[in-house]
Amino acid sequence: MSKSMMGEDIKRQKIIDPIVRRTSRPSLTVLGDGGLVSIPSRDSDSSYSDSDSEDELSPKEKQQVTVSGFSDFCVRNIKYSQIGRREIEIAEQEMPALMSLRKRAAGDKPLNGARIVGCTHVTAQAAVLVETLIELGAQVRWCACNIFSTQNEVAAALAEAGIPIFAWKGEGEEEFWWCIEKCVANTSWEPNLILDDGGDATHFMLRHHPNLFKKIIGIVEESVTGVHRLYQLSKTGKLVVPAMNVNDSVTKQKFDNLYSCRESILDGLKRTTDIMFGGKQILICGYGEVGKGCSAALKGMGSVVYVTEIDPICALQACMDGFRVVKVEEVVSTVDVLITCTGNRNVLTRPLMDKMKNGAVVANMGHSNTEIEVAALKTSDLVWENIRSQVDHIIWPDGKRIVLLAEGRLLNYSCSSVPSFVLSVTSCTQALALIEMFNAPNGRYKHDVYLLPKKMDEYVASLHLPQFNAHLTELSDEQAKYLGLNKSGPFKPAYYRY
Ligand SMILES: NC(=O)c1ccc[n+]([C@@H]2O[C@H](COP(=O)([O-])OP(=O)(O)OC[C@H]3O[C@@H](n4cnc5c(N)ncnc54)[C@H](O)[C@@H]3O)[C@@H](O)[C@H]2O)c1
Repeated sequence: MSKSMMGEDIKRQKIIDPIVRRTSRPSLTVLGDGGLVSIPSRDSDSSYSDSDSEDELSPKEKQQVTVSGFSDFCVRNIKYSQIGRREIEIAEQEMPALMSLRKRAAGDKPLNGARIVGCTHVTAQAAVLVETLIELGAQVRWCACNIFSTQNEVAAALAEAGIPIFAWKGEGEEEFWWCIEKCVANTSWEPNLILDDGGDATHFMLRHHPNLFKKIIGIVEESVTGVHRLYQLSKTGKLVVPAMNVNDSVTKQKFDNLYSCRESILDGLKRTTDIMFGGKQILICGYGEVGKGCSAALKGMGSVVYVTEIDPICALQACMDGFRVVKVEEVVSTVDVLITCTGNRNVLTRPLMDKMKNGAVVANMGHSNTEIEVAALKTSDLVWENIRSQVDHIIWPDGKRIVLLAEGRLLNYSCSSVPSFVLSVTSCTQALALIEMFNAPNGRYKHDVYLLPKKMDEYVASLHLPQFNAHLTELSDEQAKYLGLNKSGPFKPAYYRY
C-alpha cells in the first residue's frame, strides 16, 4: 500500500514522536497551524493488556475464526473477546443516549440498507456506537483511525459478535492502510456511508477507489483535523459527495471543551503529581471553553486561580467569574501550577520558565504541544529526569526543578481517561448525523460540508436528560406563538451562543 497517499494540503503521518522516551505514550503527528504537532492517541488506559509483546506474529499472518465460524476480521487475538464484551457492557451503562436510541428506533430501523465504513478509535465506547448502528439496520466494516488506540479485547469482542473489524493496537503504517482497504473494498460490499475520525478513510477512498467514492451518500467526520481536510477538499472542488462536520455541533463542543476538561484537569493533575489543590496558586493561560472548565474546577477545589487573556471579552468574563486577570510575567515566579489552554503557540517560553519557582508544575490542555516551549528545554544546561510515566523533572543548573507533564502534550488525553458519558454525546451525534445523511431527501445536501441541523443537536441533548431525571418544560401554544417558535424546536437561532 502506498505511503504517499497523504493529502496535498495537510501532510499527515502516523509516527512515533521522536522526543518520546521510555514510558511516554506514542502520538500522532500532524501538520497543524503552528507546524508539526503531536496529538496523543485518545485511547483508554484501561485496556487490560498490552498484548503486543505477548504475540509477536502480525495479526495479518494469522488465520482466526470465531466460535460460530466467522472469519471476516483481523484482530490481535480473538481469545480476548469475553473481556472485551464486559468492557463494552460497562461502557453501555454510561452511554444512555445510544441505548435509548436503540429502543426508540428499533421499529423503523432508520439505517436499513446503510453500508458504513467506520474508521474511528476502536474502544469500548466506539463499540457501543458500532453495535447501535447495526441494531438500527446498518451493515458495517470497521477499522482504527489511530495505530495505538485500539483496545484489542474490544476489537476481539466485536469480531466474536460477527462484525467485520480490522484493528489492533500497534499496527504498522502498511498494516494501517491494509485495514482501511479491507473495509473500503470487498467483493461482496459497496459502502454508501463513511464515518471518519481524522479523514484517512475518506482520503484513501477518494484516492484509491474514486468510483466507489462517488457512490457515497454522505461522510460524517468527527475530528478537527478531518473537518479541516474536508473543507480543503471542498475549496478545491474535489469533494464530490456531501459531508457533515459533527465536530462543531454545539452539544459535542460543550462536552469536549468545557465539561470534559472541567473534570479531567483534576484527574490528570492528581494522577501525575498527587498534588493537593487547596490553597495552591494556579495560572490558567486562556479563558476560552477549556480555560473556563479548568478554572472552575480548580477554584472549586480551593485553589487561588489567576487567568491570562488576550481577548477583552474573555478577560471580562474571567473578572465576572471572580478570577484575577494578570499578565503572565506578574505571577510566573510565584505560581505553583501553570496550565496553558489557548490553542496558541509559545505561550510559556523558556525565559518565563527560567523565572518559575522550584517545584512548579507545568502542563498543557490545548491542542498543540507547542503552547509550552518544550524544545527550548532540550538544551545542554538542563537535565531531564523521568520520574514516572508522563512526568519529567527538568533540572536547572542551580538545582531548581520544574515538573513538566506529558512533555507538553494534552494533559487530559495523555494522563487521564475521557469519561464514557462525554463520548456518549459524541457517538450519539455521529449516529444521528449518519441517520440524517442516509434518510435526507435528494438534493438536501449538496457536495459541501454541513453542520448537524440544530434540531438534531437539541435531540442529542434531550436523549441525555433522563439520566439526570431532568424534566424539560414544554412551551404552551401561546408562548410558542409569542416567541415565534415551533413547540418541538429548534429553540435557538443558528447564531445563538450557548
Ligand atoms: N484538552 C482537551 O480535552 C481539549 C478539548 C477541546 C479543545 N482543546 C483544545 O484546547 C485549546 C483551547 O480550546 P477552547 O475551546 O478553549 O478555545 P477558545 O478559542 O474558546 O479559547 C482559547 C482562548 O485563549 C485565548 N488566547 C489565545 N492566545 C493567548 C495568549 N497568548 N495568552 C492568553 N490567552 C490567549 C483566546 O483569546 C481564547 O479566549 C484548543 O487548542 C483546543 O483544540 C482541548
